[in-house]
Order: sequence, then structure tokens, then C-alpha cells
Amino acid sequence: MQELTGEITRFKKERKAVILAHFYQNPEIHEIADFVGDSLGLSQQAATTDAEVIVFCGVRFMAETASILSPDKIVVLPVAGAGCPMADMVDASQLEKRKQELPDATVVCYVNTTAEVKALSDVACTSANAVEVVESLPKDKSILFVPDKNLGRYVASRTGKQMTMWEGFCPTHHHLKREDVLQAKEQHPEALVLVHPECRPEVIELADVVSSTTGIINYAKQSKAQEFIVATEIGILHPLRKQCPDKKFYMASDKLICPNMKLTTLEAVHSALVNLEPRVEVPKEIRERAIVCLGRMLSNNNTQVDVRI
Ligand code: 13P
Ligand code: SF4
Repeated sequence: MQELTGEITRFKKERKAVILAHFYQNPEIHEIADFVGDSLGLSQQAATTDAEVIVFCGVRFMAETASILSPDKIVVLPVAGAGCPMADMVDASQLEKRKQELPDATVVCYVNTTAEVKALSDVACTSANAVEVVESLPKDKSILFVPDKNLGRYVASRTGKQMTMWEGFCPTHHHLKREDVLQAKEQHPEALVLVHPECRPEVIELADVVSSTTGIINYAKQSKAQEFIVATEIGILHPLRKQCPDKKFYMASDKLICPNMKLTTLEAVHSALVNLEPRVEVPKEIRERAIVCLGRMLSNNNTQVDVRI
């Protein structure tokens, strides 16, 4: 393994590459990455890096976003088949049809969407800034939110906006039930409950803190509490334990695993750096439209953590 990580470092320099990794990646991928973050942080890195190559350790929509924001760079996704089932729950023709049915609606797309869907949307958001993005829209405007109905409902409850939800969800987070969290609370009565907004509303109701992955980590770091129940994908445990070595973290369920995020291996990263494949490129006509909605999101710099205690 040491030899492989050494080769990765060598090729990274040679290729003038940067390795970006989502928190849900395996721990060994965190360790070789230049930046590990949430979807918002990774988009910001992709938009501003001066590297010539971006190796994106995540899923396809993230690499596509990087390519839209940095069209002159080579973007590689080490495992071509690493997708996001939630992003695949809405495609361009379905969204076009829905827009015709709701001609006055502003389309807000979660960043977990294809480039084609972004090209048809008015503004993008991530879980870190969804509330602030929706709050920034004119009061009287109705909103079509795609594709995560759980995040959409959470945003509607925070903003009081009239929102129509797409029927999508993240299979990993949606799988978590209220009973799982209640059981974890029974086992760890002193622990605070940290919840990602892709969870069901009845799980969010049990949260002490609702936030994106970065917000969850930052909250745990500065909190006086010593124990936490974590209701998001298991990959977050590595940075939580690394950054808070004296605190205890318990998963709300052992099923909180995103299979697609776990596909990336050190071997795949090495091969991606050597061959500069598999590449992710967004066709110009899609990119030119998709960058408008991403640009609106990135110019809205507000993010807040929803603390309920
Ligand atoms: P964040 O990166 O915004 O926390 O979202 C989690 C996620 O599901 C990414 O696929
Ligand atoms: Fe998609 Fe959920 Fe996996 Fe994130 S955790 S990539 S939303 S399936």
C-alpha cells in the first residue's frame, strides 16, 4: 500500500493534478487526497484550483460539476460506473415535461443531478446552502425542487416557501428509520443526534443538529458534548474520529453505506493518474447552460448549521 501511495504522489506531481475526495469515500482515499470535503466545498475547490488535472474521488455528478466549473481542465473519475441513484431519479425529458406543467415555477436543483438537469434549472444548491439559496428567491415565486423530496421538505419547513417536490430520494439516507435513531438514543442517552437533511422528515424531527457533512464535522469539533449519534453515510466517521479523537461517535444504523461512494480504490486512483482516464466531459451546449445555475449557487456564500438544542 505504501508503494502505491508513493506512486500516486509521484504521478500527481508529474500530471500537475489535484485529488478531491468526498467525505463518504473510504479512509485510504481521504489520506491521499489534497482536499476532502462536502459537495459545496468540493465545487468551490474545483472552480478555483490551478491544477491541470482534477481527479475526483466521488460520484459522477460531482465530476461533471467540476468539469462544468473548470472546462479547461482534465477531469477524471477513477471509477466510471460510480453514479448517484438519486441523481438518476430525474432526467432532462421528465424535467422538461414537469416545467411545462408548472410554467411559473423557479427550478431549484440539488447539486446531485446530471449536467442536463442543471442546464434546465434556474439555480443549484447543496445540502450546505439549500435553505439560504431558497430564501434568496423572490417571496411570491413558487418553487420546483428536484430531485430530493426529503431535502426539499426540510427546506420548505425552514423557509415557509411554497415548494413542489420531485419524488426522488437518496436510498442510503432514506433507508434510515425513526426506530433506528430511537434505538441508538436508548443505547446512548447522552449523545447528541447529528442528521443529514437527506434523511426522512421523521428522522430529522429527532435531530439535535441538521447539517451537511462539513457542518456536522464542524459542529462536533466545537461542541462541548462528548458523544454523538451520526445519521449520515459511514465515511464521515473517519474525519470525525481524526478531528475529535477524544469524542465518541456511533452510527445511527450500520446500513448507512453508499455503495457507489465505496467503489473508488487506491488502484483506481493510480490508474486514473497514469492514464488520465476515465474522463468526464460535459458537452459545450449543456455546460454553457448548466454553469448559470451553478454560478448563482456559488455566488450565494451563506451556509448555516441548524442547531436545535
Ligand atoms: P453533502 O456533501 O452536501 O453533505 O451531501 C452528501 C451527499 O449525499 C453527497 O452525495
Ligand atoms: Fe447519491 Fe446518496 Fe450516495 Fe450521496 S449518499 S452519492 S446522494 S446515493
